[in-house]
Amino acid sequence: MIICKSADEIKLMRQAGKIVTEVLLQIKNNLKPGVQTSYLDKLAEGIIYKMGALPAFKGYVGKLNSTPYPANICVSINEEVVHGIPGKKTVKEGDLVSVDVGVKYLGYYGDAARSFIVGDAGKTTHRLFDATLDALNMSIDKCVIGNRLSDISHTIEARAQKDNFSVVRVFVGHGIGKRMHEDPQILNYGPPGQGPPLKKGMVLAIEPMFNAGTSDVEVQPDNWTVVTADRKLSCHFEDTVAITSDGPLILTRD
Ligand code: MF3
Ligand code: CO
Repeated sequence: MIICKSADEIKLMRQAGKIVTEVLLQIKNNLKPGVQTSYLDKLAEGIIYKMGALPAFKGYVGKLNSTPYPANICVSINEEVVHGIPGKKTVKEGDLVSVDVGVKYLGYYGDAARSFIVGDAGKTTHRLFDATLDALNMSIDKCVIGNRLSDISHTIEARAQKDNFSVVRVFVGHGIGKRMHEDPQILNYGPPGQGPPLKKGMVLAIEPMFNAGTSDVEVQPDNWTVVTADRKLSCHFEDTVAITSDGPLILTRD
């Protein structure tokens, strides 16, 4: 069941989204060669609590994963797709780093991810980054009353295909509200014009994940970190978006 949110609820979710945006900005400002990913996690933790929110990922137990998520944010570098656990690893020049942040504020969730290129990087890194961000932006433009859910999915896949990148198929975007993961699941591929019609008050976390090589992924022995099977580069972006009568309202950007 897809839960539509009232205008007041969307206002609260906008506040959750602002906190996520602030955390991502501070992380961006601290993402330099040599920085430990655990430092970014501590930085995020401090900001989240200071702003009166709770980290949404810490202790999260997934449907298919009984190991509680041990950190506040996810930091996924290069061949890591999503759910990279912050730790002793340091960021290097040329890395493609995805940072995923989720918070709960006054009962509502906000969830967003940004990828960052550290210093100088190769052409493929830039092309993959541009394509994934482009796919997110183009799919947000489809968040209009009367479109169908799979118009979002199809737009993402079509953008990947344009540059010969593959789309991760086993992870999806999601509805979001009083729970971090609500209906519907948002596939990052598929034909257009299918699934539920988009309605006023739906709030969706759209998260394209593009790979430079094949779409296959594996989970590391830590039970969380998802890597590409061919160990080629992967990129991830995410925004929380509300569907309003004035069009898409991105809750996790300034
Ligand atoms: N943005 C991701 C998601 O929506 C992050 C989840 S990390 C987890 O699923 F640890 F909370 F699972
Ligand atoms: Co999400």
